[in-house]
Amino acid sequence: MTQDRYSCLECGYSAPRWFGRCPDCGSWSGAASTEESLAAATVGALGDGNAPPERMGTQVAELDRVLGGGLVPGAVVLLAGAPGIGKSTLVLQMLDGLRQSGWRALLASGEESLAQVSLRARRLRVAGDELRATATTSIDAVIDAARAERAQVLVVDSIQTLTAPGAEGRAGSVTQVRECTAALVRYAKETATVVVLVGHVTKEGGVAGPKTLEHIVDVVLVLEGERTGALRLLRATKNRFGSCDETGVFTMTDVRLEPVPDPSAMLLADRRPGASGSVVFPGLEGNRPVLVEIQALVCATTLPQPRRVAIGIEARRLTLLTGVLGQHSGLDLGQRDVFVAAAGGLAVREPAADLAIALAMYSAATDIAVDPGVVAVGEVGLSGEIRRVPGSQRRLAEAARLCFSHAIVSQSADVPRPLTKVGAVAVSDAFELVPRRAVQIQLERLA
Ligand code: TYD
Ligand code: MG
Repeated sequence: MTQDRYSCLECGYSAPRWFGRCPDCGSWSGAASTEESLAAATVGALGDGNAPPERMGTQVAELDRVLGGGLVPGAVVLLAGAPGIGKSTLVLQMLDGLRQSGWRALLASGEESLAQVSLRARRLRVAGDELRATATTSIDAVIDAARAERAQVLVVDSIQTLTAPGAEGRAGSVTQVRECTAALVRYAKETATVVVLVGHVTKEGGVAGPKTLEHIVDVVLVLEGERTGALRLLRATKNRFGSCDETGVFTMTDVRLEPVPDPSAMLLADRRPGASGSVVFPGLEGNRPVLVEIQALVCATTLPQPRRVAIGIEARRLTLLTGVLGQHSGLDLGQRDVFVAAAGGLAVREPAADLAIALAMYSAATDIAVDPGVVAVGEVGLSGEIRRVPGSQRRLAEAARLCFSHAIVSQSADVPRPLTKVGAVAVSDAFELVPRRAVQIQLERLA
């Protein structure tokens, strides 16, 4: 039995009815009919023979964490990120780890010649002569090489450089990328080979980039970070074999990505305790608590229109909080420039950071330092009220681990021991209640 289905020519979204505009990616490229075979479907109970799949550890701890313990045989993983962010470096480190664990792995590079790959391997201090690699842009040659090598893991860097002979367009076009990926998915499922595809994301989100592939692959990993900073975050935006809640943290050194097992300690390492305008926010990256220092600088403006500058923080939230503070705390920022930054290069996008940002601005404007043992977490509403936020326990447990002593939170939030709760109903209360003098905190234990 077959049933007609239609799939978007742009992203592969599939629906039982024809559509002009894709409901998923919004493109007007149109839909093509695909016959989907329903005959071969087998039915089984969900408990049948479904032991958790064996995981292949990559020896890159932060990568294994995001994958949910390692690679799963037969899985197709897309590693997406902007050019220059560190994808090729990360896959080389992964290949080296797999080799050390005894897995047969092959790198197919369409971007760099073998000489360039081996130069890079040498710089990364991975055993280049033991890594198997081929330089080609033909999908058939890649698959032939993987077969000949009996590779258990095949890395393609990048999917946008490959071409399939039957398909139209040049390398990197939607048709080519989709055709080559489909061939690799077939190969992965047929032979239980892990296939890792590196994909560049263009600034606009990528016409031929990951968007077009998300439906076809099993796992989508995104490597990101501020281009100017050294911090790199690895997130799963799709994972058929695990959760999407883990975030891997790396720093770039002059040669390779180094895992950061304790991001909070790293981000707070250069903090100057007792400085005004500084408040620590216990953030969440997926499931992972990360303490970030929020810094504010408030000074008299020389411009007719005072500046509002946000670095690593949403500009709109800064504007909103400036308004709320003006209205509900009596703080006059009308003639003053306000700069707010998340220190350390980690972008903070959660509304949960509102209270810490507001306190940092208040502290900067009044030049009264907030006690260095304080963390603050809460969303600030338009009438200045403080709202509780998800994940409080995890955030505050991390603060306790790093020896913070006081948590400024909404009145209704629970605070785990041994932290002392400072509950506030509104931002104006928080300013009154915030501990200002040094409480007993052993900052040296932070290091
Ligand atoms: P690369 O891995 O080539 O990025 P992508 O494959 O995503 O385009 O990294 C870009 C450049 O940065 C490359 O010249 C190597 C360098 N680099 C470092 O020096 N240290 C690092 O930790 C990383 C990740 C890259
Ligand atoms: Mg690259």
